[in-house]
Amino acid sequence: MQGVVYELPDGRIVKRYFPHIPQKLILSEYLCTRHAYEHGVPTWRPDELLDDGRSIVGSKLEGVSLSSFVTGRPWDAMAVMAQLGETHAAIHQTPTFKGARLWRVRQRAPIAAKALPDFTPSDVDRVNEILGQDAAERGFCHGDLSPANVVVREKRLAVIDWGRAGVGCFVQDVARTFCFILYVRPKFGWVPSRMLLPFRMRLAQSYLSAYIAATGRSETAVLLWVACELARESRRLRREAIRALLRAAYRDVLGVVRARL
Ligand SMILES: Nc1ncnc2c1ncn2[C@@H]1O[C@H](COP(=O)(O)OP(=O)(O)OP(=O)(O)O)[C@@H](O)[C@H]1O
Ligand SMILES: [Mg+2]
Repeated sequence: MQGVVYELPDGRIVKRYFPHIPQKLILSEYLCTRHAYEHGVPTWRPDELLDDGRSIVGSKLEGVSLSSFVTGRPWDAMAVMAQLGETHAAIHQTPTFKGARLWRVRQRAPIAAKALPDFTPSDVDRVNEILGQDAAERGFCHGDLSPANVVVREKRLAVIDWGRAGVGCFVQDVARTFCFILYVRPKFGWVPSRMLLPFRMRLAQSYLSAYIAATGRSETAVLLWVACELARESRRLRREAIRALLRAAYRDVLGVVRARL
């Protein structure tokens, strides 16, 4: 959590940031939200910075978060996930702007063999070849497009929380969203049931297929980033239940990408 969101008497909202959040991050969120809004991405309309730049005031979105929507109306979830894929493609089609934050380039390409422990060295060479081509494609990214940062109303989506937006690598941004759909991060305190994994996998696939159909980018490249992320997280996290979930997800994704190499 970066701050608290309040409703104003005039019906708008104010997002007031905690004191430890750096000013430049707030300004970046404001500028990225504005930029997305002005380029037709469905999002809230940021009006102004207040309190010496510590708060953003703007329009209130009615609706529920996509994460509650998925659990509350699972029968509609597949179609809404496809819409999320299209919305993500629209974000990536937005031009960048002068002064946009550059993502720190993660030292993950070339992938070391240990990132994908079940791959042979020649598989890893092939992975590096595929990822090398796609890592070059950079542009305006959301950076944190999880179901918690999407508001749904009457099956229409609007994206919020542009605090990590900036210039980044498209396929990594998509891989992150795919992982967010697969598992809820441990900071939220509960572990999704393993039984739900096939359902979540289909949701994530529905999202990804729509994104790929709209952009023509490589689905294999996205899934390879997903496999790396899942392998890394399942080594890093301590809670056994989460590790087991991530390993199961990793094995599923591995099965799909192996067949494509
Ligand atoms: N424009 C808006 N209209 C309606 N509700 C909003 C709006 N912006 C934010 N919210 C509500 O406030 C919550 C937190 O907003 P946001 O995700 O931007 O903040 P955050 O501090 O980055 O949160 P977190 O770190 O938990 O993701 C959202 O989940 C949503 O319920
Ligand atoms: Mg958020």
